[in-house]
Amino acid sequence: MTNGRFTGKVALVTGAARGMGRAHAVRLASEGADIIMCDIARDFDVTPYPGSTLEDLRETKRLVTALGRGCVSEPVDVRDFEALEHLVQGGVDELGGLDVVVANAGINSAGRAWELSEEEFDEVISVNLKGVWHTAKAAIPTMIARGNGGVIVMTGSTSAVKGLPFMAHYSATKHGVVGLVKTLAVELGQYNIRVIAVHPGATRTGLTSPPMHQLVAENPRTASVFDNTLPVELMEAEDVAAAVAFLASDEARYMTGSEVRVDMGNLCR
Ligand SMILES: NC(=O)c1ccc[n+]([C@@H]2O[C@H](COP(=O)([O-])OP(=O)(O)OC[C@H]3O[C@@H](n4cnc5c(N)ncnc54)[C@H](O)[C@@H]3O)[C@@H](O)[C@H]2O)c1
Repeated sequence: MTNGRFTGKVALVTGAARGMGRAHAVRLASEGADIIMCDIARDFDVTPYPGSTLEDLRETKRLVTALGRGCVSEPVDVRDFEALEHLVQGGVDELGGLDVVVANAGINSAGRAWELSEEEFDEVISVNLKGVWHTAKAAIPTMIARGNGGVIVMTGSTSAVKGLPFMAHYSATKHGVVGLVKTLAVELGQYNIRVIAVHPGATRTGLTSPPMHQLVAENPRTASVFDNTLPVELMEAEDVAAAVAFLASDEARYMTGSEVRVDMGNLCR
């Protein structure tokens, strides 16, 4: 592990109660960053898996503060722009800056595209796409005003690059995130603010879709889409966090508008 790449810096992480968001918060803190973070920390009606909890969010805060770092944490829904803006402002006032943003919060559900409900389509779009835009919108004015540049990493997916069966709504949001990344990279380059998409492959987190296994079994020609090149089915959240820490560090200072795959070779097949 490379220590100290974020000493004196402040990072905002959304969806930090568990999974990749927790791994990002802990990894960035372990390298010196103070953390502003949020999570909705409750169940969604449309997801086939339980949501995270306030206790999960408290545990992430405990892990960050145990590393000796400052941490401002609130249960905020990224769909609520005013609450997000309030969190960011409060965090910047308390911790003294904002250098790194990881727009990570996301949800998923599974179904054939034409059988998805109106509700699940709308929920996934509003969290995964509008919530990511909200995160950038809440952070960018402060980053520009401070004049120190910075980096925004948005969490995409292999489904941002190719169609993943039974995730049409999810895949559409992740393709949309790439549109945000490319456009914001152009708009923010003059401020030395970099914008990057990270595309994880299947990762062991709370976001699981048991109905997928059934759907793939019923539609066997779809199965190969999920095959990885490396001999592993699932990565750990820390594998994605390690890549994000590099992308957010000055070591990646000339990377912007990039899409970085951490996907066990899924997308090269
Ligand atoms: N797990 C995978 O296989 C995988 C693969 C590719 C991309 N991703 C993406 O990685 C990101 C992190 O997901 P994860 O796998 O860690 O899942 P996870 O469910 O373990 O963690 C996601 C966190 O985001 C939070 N969240 C959801 N909606 C929110 C909202 N409206 N406001 C605030 N917080 C909210 C959840 O409560 C949860 O704690 C997501 O964007 C997901 O789409 C996951």
